[in-house]
Amino acid sequence: MNPIDSPAWRALAAHAEAIRPLHLRDLFATDPQRFEHFSLHHDGLLLDYSKQRVSAETMALLRAYAETADVAGWRRRMLNGESINHTEGRAVRHMSLRAGDQAPAEVRAALARQQAFCESIHNGVWRGFFGERITDVVNIGIGGSDLGPRMAALALSARQQPDIAVHFIANVDSADIAPLLASLNPRTTLFIVASKTFTTLETLTNARTARDWLLATAGQNSAIARHFVAISTNLELTKQFGIADDNVFEFWDWVGGRFSIWSAIGLSLALAIGWKNFEQLLAGARAMDRHFIDTPADENLPLTLALLSLWNTNFLGASTEAMLPYSQSLHLFPAYLQQLEMESNGKQIDRDGKPLNIATSPVIWGESGTNGQHSFYQLFHQGGHLIPADFVALREADFPLPGHHASLLANCLAQSAALAFGQTAEEVRAAGIPEALIPYKVFPGNQPSNTLLLPSLDPYTLGQLLALFEHKVFCLGVLWNLNAFDQWGVELGKQLAGQLTPLIEGNGDLSAFDSSTRGLIAALKG
Ligand code: F6P
Repeated sequence: MNPIDSPAWRALAAHAEAIRPLHLRDLFATDPQRFEHFSLHHDGLLLDYSKQRVSAETMALLRAYAETADVAGWRRRMLNGESINHTEGRAVRHMSLRAGDQAPAEVRAALARQQAFCESIHNGVWRGFFGERITDVVNIGIGGSDLGPRMAALALSARQQPDIAVHFIANVDSADIAPLLASLNPRTTLFIVASKTFTTLETLTNARTARDWLLATAGQNSAIARHFVAISTNLELTKQFGIADDNVFEFWDWVGGRFSIWSAIGLSLALAIGWKNFEQLLAGARAMDRHFIDTPADENLPLTLALLSLWNTNFLGASTEAMLPYSQSLHLFPAYLQQLEMESNGKQIDRDGKPLNIATSPVIWGESGTNGQHSFYQLFHQGGHLIPADFVALREADFPLPGHHASLLANCLAQSAALAFGQTAEEVRAAGIPEALIPYKVFPGNQPSNTLLLPSLDPYTLGQLLALFEHKVFCLGVLWNLNAFDQWGVELGKQLAGQLTPLIEGNGDLSAFDSSTRGLIAALKG
């Protein structure tokens, strides 16, 4: 039986009727220790979920539903290496990439190769075709082969290694790669072509452009071996591209693209922050894995995040979830989460191939604080949409300067409080505001949020954070009874783009296409 047809789900639906009319003001008023009752501490992290529209009963019912959906059983199946990605016949083993001494031999061997490569670039043993040191590394990849290392390199930029700059190219739009190439020297540039499948149009187009650019200076194909490495599961295609097997860092089909930062896909990140820091990232994720596996439901951070998301989405009716990091260094974290959450759980077909008929992944979006406050928070406060949010803040600034961090933190706390409690007409009136303006100054509040406090933004903590959200996504997939590890929904657009490219470049029969596509192609051709 689909768990959403279970009594546990129906009990939640009935309970939601009782909770929905309650305001967060009421929930705080009736429990002076609400913060203590609805917050979790673990290994330096603090999750305050007291500003969620939940009671102790809500949490108990949610945890009962997690048992019905068998989160623990699916976690065990994942850990046992069963093919839980059933539509692709694959296991889901990204946790073994960061298992340290417990990692499989093939993983430890791959990590040792990556470390040696990384160090050879940093200490100048690896040289370009003309004998010069590598000063610039360009990661060419997209989606999971780009977003993780790109986001993490920015998040950890306080640890940027000297004498090397790491760049990221993803878009097939030449406006991405052209300005970068114009600023680089081919003699001192190394390209990492990162593609699990090595069939991705954007990545291969950019990689060919980069190869032509290199060869225009080097003049000989033998230069490719000093300036191109690949990260892929497809050795056949990397060879066809001209990259020698010795320059390919392999990974495995049991690593999903959006879960691949821990694999060789993290090489660009390791080059940016140094191998020791990369190992710390793995250590942080490993610690979160242990927490996720060993900790009972009522203290389990990833499961709690997942249950709150389920509650907001399916029982309170939210269709979006905002990620609001009060950290400029986490500026790309919302973009990274968009792929992690939406490509995993944005689905309507259950594990048995049947329609789900319930909302699944909310639309994930966000912006770093305080910038978002000066753009979209107006709607957040008074736009009438229910928008659950995750605030993320750092106890210690990663780039400390006098006068900044307290202000940043104050804004974070102020916003979550204003969103939760709002401002009533009586309060506005008591402040002496003229009667005609009072309706404009009322804030309804009751916007639910989590606040996640991190001690600092070091590699270990970032590893914890990323693994926390990976496991949240896993739990949600189970709670919605879907396969979080395939992504068939990206295929149709790719196929159509493949058919349309030659038609835009040349002439061909457009009659199979709709009138809008035909009209747009005609307009493009002038
Ligand atoms: O189109 C979606 C996707 O398949 C993602 O899942 C993946 O991370 C991305 O494309 C890139 O794929 P690849 O690493 O094979 O180039």
